[in-house]
Amino acid sequence: MRLVIKFAGALLEDADAVASLTKQVAALARAGHQILVVHGGGRLFTATLKRMGLESRFVAGLRVTDRETRDAAVMVFAGLLNKRLAAAISAEGQPAVGISAADAQCFTAEPLVHNDVAGGLGFVGYLTGVNVEFLESLWHAGLLPVAPCLGLGPDGELYNINADHMAAACAEYLRADALIYLTDVAGVLHGEKLLPAVSCEEVGALVESRVVSGGMVLKLEAAKRALEGGVGGVRIVGGTSPEALLDAAAAAGLHTGKTPDAPGTLVTLGPFAAKAAALSAV
Ligand SMILES: Nc1ncnc2c1ncn2[C@@H]1O[C@H](COP(=O)(O)OP(=O)(O)OP(=O)(O)O)[C@@H](O)[C@H]1O
Ligand SMILES: [Mg+2]
Repeated sequence: MRLVIKFAGALLEDADAVASLTKQVAALARAGHQILVVHGGGRLFTATLKRMGLESRFVAGLRVTDRETRDAAVMVFAGLLNKRLAAAISAEGQPAVGISAADAQCFTAEPLVHNDVAGGLGFVGYLTGVNVEFLESLWHAGLLPVAPCLGLGPDGELYNINADHMAAACAEYLRADALIYLTDVAGVLHGEKLLPAVSCEEVGALVESRVVSGGMVLKLEAAKRALEGGVGGVRIVGGTSPEALLDAAAAAGLHTGKTPDAPGTLVTLGPFAAKAAALSAV
């Protein structure tokens, strides 16, 4: 089966989480699944900008990305973090290759329209295509692709893409059976309580009542896009709990040799599926 796994930036900075998760990724690949790992940048990007003396301006939660900021994003995302993650998965016995949008035009993008201006935020884009044949050739060669949240624009420039949206769009273009978001919290929380399932129809009310905010709103929006695009299932899971990824994959119906013990939050399109999932999780 085909699986897209998105790593949160915070997890990449946690050595124990990287060790545990890369072991699980390697185990899933060895079980014969076709996996694409997508990641963002986290604090290392912000720290690098600071070291380079670059200040960021945010508009509606999005970083205005001028050429120097974009160059730093490429250095951190497609460079250090991408290579670290590919090395860690390879060290677990599953050869992984770090690829970015520029390699074989693997991920294409268009500049985001802001205030009616394409590219109004600088080098911020959205994914418009995936070189599926290239990824399939890697899988057939026994290699596991690891990709940062960048896309190649029609002008030959690299564009920064929100990592949650990149993962969702990749899952859609790849017709993935499942999309798993590994994040730094146990799933979608209502106060202290973990919600075992959330339907896309509930998201508006959860945001309005401020139960869900910040990065989790973007993630739920991206999850909705993936489900509407035909992705088999979407789950948001805490990456630091042991075996979380294997359990999430098993819950999505991927053969893992484990009995499903559904972790985190299942995102569904309609309320009925969410109710059924919540009941089965009791
Ligand atoms: N109801 C909620 N349940 C869980 N997390 C929430 C909720 N509302 C807001 N959040 C915030 O959303 C965060 C997760 O989104 P965030 O964008 O920080 O991480 P990520 O998308 O997993 O990783 P990255 O942005 O680095 O790719 C949580 O750490 C939490 O602070
Ligand atoms: Mg985020």
